Amino acid sequence: MKALVYLGPGKKALEERPKPEIIAPTDAIVKITKTTICGTDLHILKGDVPSCQPGRILGHEGVGVVETVGMAVTAFKPGDRVLISCISACGKCTYCRKLMYSHCTTGGWILGNSIDGTQAEFVRTPYADTSLYPIPEGADEEALVMLSDILPTGFECGVLNGRVQPGCSVAIVGAGPIGLAALLTAQFYSPAEIIMIDLDDNRLEVAKRFGATAVINSADGNTVEALMQLTGGRGVDTAIEAVGIPVTFELCEKIIAPGGTIANIGVHGTTVDLHLESLWNRNITITTRLVDTVSTPMLLKTLESNKIDPKLLITHRFKLDQILQAYETFAHAADTHALKVIIET
Ligand SMILES: NC(=O)c1ccc[n+]([C@@H]2O[C@H](COP(=O)([O-])OP(=O)(O)OC[C@H]3O[C@@H](n4cnc5c(N)ncnc54)[C@H](O)[C@@H]3O)[C@@H](O)[C@H]2O)c1
Ligand SMILES: [Zn+2]
Ligand SMILES: [Zn+2]
Repeated sequence: MKALVYLGPGKKALEERPKPEIIAPTDAIVKITKTTICGTDLHILKGDVPSCQPGRILGHEGVGVVETVGMAVTAFKPGDRVLISCISACGKCTYCRKLMYSHCTTGGWILGNSIDGTQAEFVRTPYADTSLYPIPEGADEEALVMLSDILPTGFECGVLNGRVQPGCSVAIVGAGPIGLAALLTAQFYSPAEIIMIDLDDNRLEVAKRFGATAVINSADGNTVEALMQLTGGRGVDTAIEAVGIPVTFELCEKIIAPGGTIANIGVHGTTVDLHLESLWNRNITITTRLVDTVSTPMLLKTLESNKIDPKLLITHRFKLDQILQAYETFAHAADTHALKVIIET
């Protein structure tokens, strides 16, 4: 089968690989129909993720059709159309029983990381019963690809952890796919204001179409003043960090209102300053989270009832043969205006 293989920092190739086989009785083999590329795949290609070793097939998102199942799989059978979660969950360990699937002691984020992933014609999915979801009749498969990772991430790490409430004010720093997913799902709770902050005017335009009440381009360095003007000098009740660099987390520290919550989503590679000298008396909360995908069944319902349209995030479409071109397009988003790219097998 064809597969996109990570060959070490800066190197990848579309290679011929053997079709995966069932290893554990809880596994399924899924024939991929649609997959996509995540910002995290670019992190891997930079060499930022040591758990992902050269030789690994990348990808942790996708939909497909069950080809074979192990002896212990009871919820799925060959021919079933399924959504693949980016998080594999055994359902039984201490963390799974606390609904912290991301910390599953034998699972978590392993697909396209410590085991082969979804950017291929077939994938082996561990713990199939508790890591795959049946695709509802008539559902749009492209839209569903957004539910493998980015929608639950924006919702769980940003909106739920950020305690977004009716009438509150929210700032989302970073208007990439994750920040935009937080913007879409924050609107479940009817916040009064959602202010999107980014350096890219195209992405800020997209954010306006997705429901942002105001946008700030932070390139000129007056972001704090601009935001304070928008919020009557108070700051925001929820600040969602969706970039993963010190300057954007520190911006959240400056714009959070008393009693507010900073919800970090970004993957950070370096130390960030915590300004307790200005925050110690402001009754704030800071949260961090690796997506657990516990909200996937709920998000599937909202998709089915058209309460949310994640298809808005898809800007480009490619065949698996063109996946290197898909990576180029996705990696140069400022020029190509790419958000999510769909790769069809
Ligand atoms: N916690 C989790 O479970 C989890 C899961 C998935 C992704 N992530 C992380 O979420 C973050 C966002 O992911 P993404 O795919 O949307 O990334 P992305 O790179 O596509 O988007 C980041 C956005 O931030 C903007 N930006 C960069 N510097 C900025 C600055 N100084 N001020 C304002 N905006 C700035 C960029 O223009 C871009 O639009 C990444 O760090 C990713 O690794 C976390
Ligand atoms: Zn991802
Ligand atoms: Zn577990």
